[in-house]
Amino acid sequence: MSKKITKAVFPVAGLGTRFLPATKATPKEMLPIVDKPLMQYAVEEAVAAGIDTMIFITGRTKNVIMDHFDKAYELEKELEARNKHDTLDLLRSIVPPHVSCIFIRQAEALGLGHAVNCASPVIGDEPFAVILPDDLIENADCGCMTQMVELYQQHQCSILGVERVDPFETGSYGIVKVGESNGRASPIELIVEKPKPAVAPSNLAVVGRYILTPAIFNKIKYTAKGAGGEIQLTDAIAALMADEQVLAYEFEGNRYDCGSKLGFLIATVEHGLLHKELKDDFIAYLKDLAKKL
Ligand code: G1P
Repeated sequence: MSKKITKAVFPVAGLGTRFLPATKATPKEMLPIVDKPLMQYAVEEAVAAGIDTMIFITGRTKNVIMDHFDKAYELEKELEARNKHDTLDLLRSIVPPHVSCIFIRQAEALGLGHAVNCASPVIGDEPFAVILPDDLIENADCGCMTQMVELYQQHQCSILGVERVDPFETGSYGIVKVGESNGRASPIELIVEKPKPAVAPSNLAVVGRYILTPAIFNKIKYTAKGAGGEIQLTDAIAALMADEQVLAYEFEGNRYDCGSKLGFLIATVEHGLLHKELKDDFIAYLKDLAKKL
């Protein structure tokens, strides 16, 4: 299977209960880090990796995501009339002209595996990417998905983005045990969804970046409810491993767990420090603040 990765799936139907009340009427994926919603960082990472079809698996209350990636006709007219060309360009660059967005409703939030399976009619018989916008991964030179697509070109198999986490946190992630590594890539020998620290096979955690072969769909179809009573992508990947090699890839870059309040706050501060208009004033402010702490 030597096909290019042209499609990315964004499972964004989750309720975002950890961020209530902020997420009562606003999807968690639309919470901004400085001035850009998490969802847009994820789409930009996919576009940078050469992906041109974005498939959003959404749910009720997520229509704002669709609006964000649609043309804002009245706003554009208004900005044009006011000669705000820079802002207009910024707005128009959200979806580059060669990129298509497809929205699929996941009627019930039955788990990540179920969400990914909702994309199967659109994906067909091609390998594809999955990006979870909660995991914001920063690498100014070469985005995480770009690195993974390059690796896919060499190995033509499913690849999961992984990172070492605190051994006490294994219960929040899919955890893998790997064989002998070849640089940053290693064959996965075992994968378990959210094991308690005492029984975790390692502390190598799957972050929200996957490249999957289409064989995953048939595995999801026969995957029973797993951890948390949900149809887990991790369990379908475990089944896929019986037939195909699956690699773990320790990406280069900084990951921010924006699904947690602390991770979200850290991402906000660090992106403030990188922001070209804000960074000087923000650094001065933080230095001043540090003296008072
Ligand atoms: C999901 C996956 C898990 C993975 C994690 C990465 O869990 O099920 O395997 O490690 O994303 O963020 P969730 O965070 O949606 O509970």
